[in-house]
Amino acid sequence: MGIFKKEAPLPAELPQHIAIIMDGNGRWAKKRGLPRTAGHKKGANNMRTIIDYMNKIGIRYMTFYAFSTENWKRSQDEVNAIMDLLKDYLEEALERFQETDMRMRFIGDRSVLNPELVDLMEKVESVSADHTGAVVNMAINYGGRQEITAACRNIAQKVKEGSIHPDDIDEDMISANIFTAGQPDPDLIIRPSGEYRLSNFLIWQAAYSEFLFDEVLWPDFSTKDLDRAIREYSNRQRRFGGVK
Ligand code: IPE
Ligand code: IPE
Ligand code: MG
Repeated sequence: MGIFKKEAPLPAELPQHIAIIMDGNGRWAKKRGLPRTAGHKKGANNMRTIIDYMNKIGIRYMTFYAFSTENWKRSQDEVNAIMDLLKDYLEEALERFQETDMRMRFIGDRSVLNPELVDLMEKVESVSADHTGAVVNMAINYGGRQEITAACRNIAQKVKEGSIHPDDIDEDMISANIFTAGQPDPDLIIRPSGEYRLSNFLIWQAAYSEFLFDEVLWPDFSTKDLDRAIREYSNRQRRFGGVK
């Protein structure tokens, strides 16, 4: 027997929707004596790799947490660097998403983002809107509480106008009024970097998600780490409150 143990194949039934909290860029850079922005750059490159890999193995929905509503608390320099990297990524995605069958969507509050960035987001969405392949959600200025608050406001407005009655409000209506409307909830949420929290990510959608926390920092999170996460997911027993 050789020293290289063959990895088990991926399970036949894959999660339909995987969401990733791309955390640990700053620590990755610090460990190497580099500025935090070097970690963000490496993290953005890793996102490209993981998107292509998930698409290749047949994941239908993927969501990446790129910038939270709380990340504005960071220094202006760091925020600018992240926004510049997102812009670079979107310029490239505008070409890439015309060649693939994947569809890109953005979740989060766009109203306070740089108009140039918003323009790119809209272009990438529109060039990929008719695609029928995997859906890639990019969370930019995303916060779960902000999302639910906006949904409440929206629904309250309809009540005020008289088009719906308060008794009509149910879980399906809330799901239909959030950014991920029409998409399945994440089956698996992965957070690398050794932090064990959601940090305001998909708090409505995560009600029955499986969680996979990994010590690896996001820039080092490889396709092998993803395979392992998927294999672990396939060994979980999801009960949704029932009995199995
Ligand atoms: C995640 O990495 C990227 C963003 C939140 C934008 P961090 O920048 O949070 O990295 P750490 O957690 O400081 O290592
Ligand atoms: C969560 O990471 C947000 C993103 C990865 C975009 P943070 O680094 O902002 O989360 P906290 O502050 O450790 O909870
Ligand atoms: Mg962090």
